[in-house]
Amino acid sequence: MGVGYKLFARPALALQDSERAHKRSLRMLRWMAATAPGRLMLRSLYAPRRTVPVNLFGHEYKHPFGLAAGMDKNAEALRGWDAIGLAFIEIGGVTMLGQEGNPKPRMFRADASKALVNRMGFNNQGSEAIQRHLEAHVRRYGRPKAPLWVNLGKSKVTSLEDAHTDYATTMERLWKHTDVFVINVSSPNTPHLRTLQNDEGLQRILDACHEVNQRLSASTTKDEIPLLVKIAPDVADEQLELIVRTAQANGAAGMVVSNTTLARPEPRSSKEKHLFEEQGGLSGQPLKNRSTELIRQVRSLAGPDWPIVGVGGVANADDAWEKIRAGASLVQAYSAFVFEGPALVKSVVHGLDKRRRSAGFETLQQAVGMDDVPAEDC
Ligand SMILES: Cc1cc2nc3c(=O)[nH]c(=O)nc-3n(C[C@H](O)[C@H](O)[C@H](O)COP(=O)(O)O)c2cc1C
Repeated sequence: MGVGYKLFARPALALQDSERAHKRSLRMLRWMAATAPGRLMLRSLYAPRRTVPVNLFGHEYKHPFGLAAGMDKNAEALRGWDAIGLAFIEIGGVTMLGQEGNPKPRMFRADASKALVNRMGFNNQGSEAIQRHLEAHVRRYGRPKAPLWVNLGKSKVTSLEDAHTDYATTMERLWKHTDVFVINVSSPNTPHLRTLQNDEGLQRILDACHEVNQRLSASTTKDEIPLLVKIAPDVADEQLELIVRTAQANGAAGMVVSNTTLARPEPRSSKEKHLFEEQGGLSGQPLKNRSTELIRQVRSLAGPDWPIVGVGGVANADDAWEKIRAGASLVQAYSAFVFEGPALVKSVVHGLDKRRRSAGFETLQQAVGMDDVPAEDC
């Protein structure tokens, strides 16, 4: 079916506008996962048969590979992501208020470079509607099997000064159903959002989110929910150090590295040249090395015990292994699902298990950050 996807579905989807193709794929996944035979089919075609357990953020993840933010902003296909065997599902970015996002077209696909450029601008239904949707989903089908992560964004109309209220309100609304929150201060498509990566902005957001966490945890039996900070790859070394220090000093449980980049690779054709001139963030294969490099830098600044989630250009087991060796405990992908389809999950997980065994490791955790160690000590 991986081959089936490449031969039939991908070319058909490639003929369509990127955003329309994305919507159609999401709808198809949701539709297939709506019945027991459909879910069985998805599971038997795509779900990994092996587990590569990772204990992190208060959960046992069945393997380290999850869905990156942006793919399912409104949590529309939760049963589908479960059925294809992802270890965790990050929904969102969710903002306090529902919003349309930027005018279309706003998502572009560079097939030769296996890259996407997008300037979606946090189009989503808003945290109130998504809260209602999650509550209805859980009542009807129970919680997703995989831990549910929520990516928190800022509504466009909310000023930077009030950003902390926007993040904290969404967090409060979705708290009950969430296993990990990711504070996204790194999308390039909301004006000035990235300035919130600076110490004062980030500190205020983390403080406001901690207040919600403590208050809700004290009034229920649920523990506080880990808060991660997602960063941009376009940061200078001094800025990175400040972000890591601020995040650690203000109780962030780890970091997601990284969001899309404003940088552009060498185009492979004149079509790509035009496409790379589009405004927005670039993801996929050309982001891979920069994001891995940033994982190394964050690990060396933060120390080996502060978890990193690696994302950017993961399209196969080698890419995921590279990020784990650089210091990522979990990895995620978005763009490669567009180019490779759902067979990606099995190929990444089985490949990682093979690499773990060839390296002689009992657990994947032993491989995390192994590039730090001189070769003769491995
Ligand atoms: C169309 C699109 C929308 C995205 N939306 C979000 C978002 O809402 N929040 C976020 O933190 N990242 C968002 N991302 C970034 C991805 O989560 C990921 O960090 C980035 O694409 C790099 O991973 P990849 O190379 O596997 O795509 C989006 C990416 C794309 C392509």
